[in-house]
Amino acid sequence: MTAKTANKAVKAPAKQTQAFKDKSKPSDIRQSNINAAKAVCDAIRTSLGPRGMDKMIQAANGEVTITNDGATILKQMNVIHPAAKMLVELSRAQDVEAGDGTTSIVVIAGALLDAVQKLLLKGIHPTAISDAFQRCARKAVEILTEMSRPIELNDRESLIKSASTSLNSKVVSQQSSLLAPIAVDAVLKVAEDRGTEKSVDLKNIKIIQSLGGTIEDTELIEGLVFTQKSSGVNGPKRIEKAKIALIQFCISPPKTDMDHNVVVSDYAAMDRVLKEERAYILNIVKQIKKSGCNVLLVQKSILRDAVSDLAHHFLDKVKIMVVKDVEREDIEYVCKTLGCRPIASLDHFLPENVVNAELAEEISSGINKFVKITGIQNQGRTASIICRGSNKLVLEEADRSLHDALCVVRCLVKNRALIAGGGAGEIEMALRLQEYAQSLEGIDAYCFRAFGEALEVVPSTLAENAGLNPISTVTELRSRHAQGEKNAGINVRKGAITDILAENVVQPLLVSTSAITLASETVRSILKIDDIVNTVT
Ligand SMILES: Nc1ncnc2c1ncn2[C@@H]1O[C@H](COP(=O)(O)OP(=O)(O)OP(=O)(O)O)[C@@H](O)[C@H]1O
Ligand SMILES: [Mg+2]
Repeated sequence: MTAKTANKAVKAPAKQTQAFKDKSKPSDIRQSNINAAKAVCDAIRTSLGPRGMDKMIQAANGEVTITNDGATILKQMNVIHPAAKMLVELSRAQDVEAGDGTTSIVVIAGALLDAVQKLLLKGIHPTAISDAFQRCARKAVEILTEMSRPIELNDRESLIKSASTSLNSKVVSQQSSLLAPIAVDAVLKVAEDRGTEKSVDLKNIKIIQSLGGTIEDTELIEGLVFTQKSSGVNGPKRIEKAKIALIQFCISPPKTDMDHNVVVSDYAAMDRVLKEERAYILNIVKQIKKSGCNVLLVQKSILRDAVSDLAHHFLDKVKIMVVKDVEREDIEYVCKTLGCRPIASLDHFLPENVVNAELAEEISSGINKFVKITGIQNQGRTASIICRGSNKLVLEEADRSLHDALCVVRCLVKNRALIAGGGAGEIEMALRLQEYAQSLEGIDAYCFRAFGEALEVVPSTLAENAGLNPISTVTELRSRHAQGEKNAGINVRKGAITDILAENVVQPLLVSTSAITLASETVRSILKIDDIVNTVT
């Protein structure tokens, strides 16, 4: 034997250990990803359900938010681990897709990750688990769809019930009987026909926060509301038979684009400048008056005063109400409501661009003053909600809760089916998936059973948060479902298992199906990651 071969023989085992070390890396990475993601789930578990807790979030700048909304909590959380960030994204995806169920989805994802960990320990290959979970999710959605009840859009009662279920778990739950009908009416008002389908764009519903009063004073306005007061000092504050125009130009002395200096050397010249300005503004005001307009909406301008003091003086004199600083992004909404086009220059200020309405008035609500326009001729499909609250934290949470309720009704317009809440859907899926698993063989049998078991996390967390014993509650719930009581759910008020439909706890099918599909998708993608690579820059 030569020295060379002897050398090789010595090196060979060293290489083998290297390869062995590499092999353990993917599973380490997977475990660390799963653990990081599960930590996020644990953080918001306690917020689930009507007896769930709220979180107080303190931002770096000292701003405080109190909320129960999963997506809001996660959005503001400082999450660093990339896998944990996937769950934040998951919650946001549910917020976009369904609007409600943003806490449930993260709780479900956490339980599925737990199930994955156990399956991995059994030695099942990640790809096999991932494929099986895809089939599980499809089957689970089928089961949910089977147990759902169709509803009609004219069934206002059912729509209100589902909106109040979503409000039940919020700070404003006491006022759900007031807010739920508002949400339903607002969504039905903006629903537009698209062929046979109806579509709802929530941008057409404007929620205006007004500090002062209580949540009970929240109201749906038939018409248009501006957050600002009328800007004239002595101008009219109430105009019947209003003629409204929306302008995008300014009523103030023009400015050049560049910096400029005008040197005025004598009084005669100064007088001329002032006279010129007067004439310029008077001309605009006269033309506006000529068209018959008596309520003027002015788009916000950052370059110069949208309406100068002199212009205000003239407009007040001719009894035109002015609402200035209409935000650029609100222009579309205002135009849609009024059914008009914005007027971009004085030449286009013609009587046909002026909209008729019965009443435009300034109202005071709380510490604020608003301009409200009602009785608009040919009003577009939009709605305004004035949300009231005694302090900023409650007011903002009321706004978010109202948004959830609006989303729930929108889901029902999109997919007209309801399922029972209170964990009924989840336990039914769990039971049926586990039954189905018994008819399967091989890896699928394990995966279906594990997936089903994981879904039990929702009823068990609901029970835990309501102060009930999770084990006895879930086992009773399971046995009631096994006996065919599909609508048995956790009645948190009575602390028992009852027919949850009788309690009016219903939720849209779409919220639950999208939660299952999106959660399993995210779990599958976390499972398939076997390395984290950092880039140089
Ligand atoms: N009165 C009730 N009795 C029993 N369960 C209820 C009741 N109201 C709501 N639930 C259940 O509570 C769960 C919803 O809780 P919650 O609204 O806190 O979270 P979410 O909808 O997942 O997330 P978020 O509302 O933060 O987007 C659903 O499973 C629903 O069935
Ligand atoms: Mg909810």
